[in-house]
Amino acid sequence: MIPNLPGIHIVATGHYAPPKVVTNDDLSEIIDTNDEWIKKRTGIERRHFSEGETNTDIAVNAAKEALANSGIDVNDLAACIVATFSPDYYSPSVACMVHKELGLPEDVPAFDINAACSGFIYGLEVARGILLQSEKKYLLLCGSEIISKVLDMEDRGTCILFGDGAGAVVIELSEDKQYVSYLGAKGNSDYIFVPNADDEKRKVHMEGNNVFRFAVTTVPKCIEEVLKKANLSKDEVTHYVCHQANKRIIEGVASKLDIPIEKFYMNLMEYGNTSAASVPIVLSEMNKDGMLKPGDKIVCVGFGAGLTWAGVLIEW
Ligand code: COA
Repeated sequence: MIPNLPGIHIVATGHYAPPKVVTNDDLSEIIDTNDEWIKKRTGIERRHFSEGETNTDIAVNAAKEALANSGIDVNDLAACIVATFSPDYYSPSVACMVHKELGLPEDVPAFDINAACSGFIYGLEVARGILLQSEKKYLLLCGSEIISKVLDMEDRGTCILFGDGAGAVVIELSEDKQYVSYLGAKGNSDYIFVPNADDEKRKVHMEGNNVFRFAVTTVPKCIEEVLKKANLSKDEVTHYVCHQANKRIIEGVASKLDIPIEKFYMNLMEYGNTSAASVPIVLSEMNKDGMLKPGDKIVCVGFGAGLTWAGVLIEW
């Protein structure tokens, strides 16, 4: 950690998921699975799948809500960033298309970040870096995924896990807010990968057991490292916002670190795993529900393909 640099303040949040809900029972009509198995192994009950909505469409909806809630002038944006592994095009980026749809000024740079499910938290780190050297005050950061288009609906080990959705935040720097981060990566295309091939083959492949083991060791490590850097005890943290992949992973982390499970907000029952969108959707839901109070200390943790991992401490 570089001391004495300002932390970040999340000024406003927004989120959006496509209206089409796919229940576990719906999936059991197309593959050999059932509601009981999915709920027991993952905690997931439903997910939202796009019906023609693009990644740009859903990112724009989340971004519009965050911008409206913030009340800021878009001329004061230092950048527009989207974290995603499921963009509409190789190029242009989702961020550039969001930029177009929102009519952002031309001096606002726009680009995507791909760190899979750690993408939004990588994005917070990048956002802070940009704001530290910008004359502009705010930054728009989204996590947005249309994962349904890269799901192999014949692979019951993966297609039950994921869903589509988008979350967005408007960020500014704050001298009063503590910020520490712990980010890492270890190249591995065996555990989770989406091949760069024609549309037929561009599907999520995953070794579920290996990913599970990776998650239950990496997430506690991220939390411990963040707490150590922040010089905080686990009890001083108000909320732990964990990437919403699997209820058993989150319960395993809580039990390993002996942190009450109530401190881990979960909405994976409703959305499944929305990769880079999961953490900002949680923050937006908690914010909407009035659960976040100024000064709350929040540890956000992501992990996923790459392999990548990321933890941050932010203050509300
Ligand atoms: N419905 C019913 N049965 C299923 C199933 C499904 N959707 N998917 C797998 N099974 C079966 C398997 O075929 C296997 O059957 P068998 O014993 O007859 O061979 C059995 O259930 C157990 O499979 P296994 O893969 O060992 O189950 P698991 O307890 O490891 O759970 C996951 C599988 C995918 C839920 C779990 O490994 C997991 O959550 N991994 C992490 C994935 C993740 O979070 N990825 C994203 C990271 S960002």
